Amino acid sequence: MILVVGAKGMLGQDLMRVLPGDVRGVDIEEIDITSPESVRRVLVTLKPRVVVNCAAYTDVDGCESNVALAMAVNGEAVGNLAAVTKEVGALLVQVSTDYVFDGGKGSPCLEDDPVNPLSIYGKSKLLGEEKARENPDHLIVRTQWLYGLGGKNFVETMLRLAKEKTELAVVDDQIGAPTWTVDLALAISELLDNGCRGTYHAANDGFCSWFDFAEAIFAEAGIAMRVRPQTTEELGRPARRPLYSVLNCGKLVHDTGLQLEQWREALKTYLAKRTEA
Ligand SMILES: NC(=O)c1ccc[n+]([C@@H]2O[C@H](COP(=O)([O-])OP(=O)(O)OC[C@H]3O[C@@H](n4cnc5c(N)ncnc54)[C@H](OP(=O)(O)O)[C@@H]3O)[C@@H](O)[C@H]2O)c1
Repeated sequence: MILVVGAKGMLGQDLMRVLPGDVRGVDIEEIDITSPESVRRVLVTLKPRVVVNCAAYTDVDGCESNVALAMAVNGEAVGNLAAVTKEVGALLVQVSTDYVFDGGKGSPCLEDDPVNPLSIYGKSKLLGEEKARENPDHLIVRTQWLYGLGGKNFVETMLRLAKEKTELAVVDDQIGAPTWTVDLALAISELLDNGCRGTYHAANDGFCSWFDFAEAIFAEAGIAMRVRPQTTEELGRPARRPLYSVLNCGKLVHDTGLQLEQWREALKTYLAKRTEA
């Protein structure tokens, strides 16, 4: 059985739909990953063969003022999962982030490129990676710029703002790849199917700025909106973000044969599914 931890989150919900076979989901009501006792109780009772951890404190700016909580949930708690999965002989899959990189490389980041997180969120997720490796049977999947049904995300924010405004300023100096959670769930499924272990990058193909992404969202949704470019400095958010954090997904393609679709194609499909839902 595959156990999805954080099953009510944005990625968790799509993993529950996409992963094949016997899949169970738990979230904060059934398991508190920061509690070793809670993790032990759930894993010893359910006896999963694979645990996919999507539970996290994902408010990147909130992490800056809640350092202890960020380190506990995104970092130390993964050690609880690693210890018990190791003990019961289960594989631990840990979802991580491009924010472990500082964005200074200027070309797509490889799995073994040096890490240097700029934010508390990035530091806490890096600690989570280190903790996941305490179970030798681990798979770490770094991804970025996620959006999906039932989650707080950039696409939903843009569509909400479109109901209130006719003009918006959006950051144009951060570059990454918007990634649909269904496509990431497919990548995780393929990695599991192919028996992959270690660290992988998984994101939709191509790259853009948040400004380009906003323009694409409004164009594909048929919404007239004037989008103005803005710098990261002008926006002045509490957490520092990498300016260029495109993930090189060549290892995923090589080891599974799966190349995730281009980000704009994924966005089109998401918008169509969202209308149906
Ligand atoms: N969102 C992105 O753009 C992005 C980018 C790169 C990587 N990631 C990573 O991808 C993964 C999934 O992200 P997501 O956006 O789908 O997350 P999400 O929607 O915020 O879901 C996280 C889930 O974890 C639960 N949770 C929080 N603390 C917990 C605890 N102590 N024990 C058990 N469950 C707990 C949350 O419950 P509550 O809602 O009740 O707190 C929520 O249901 C995370 O590892 C994240 O770091 C996300």
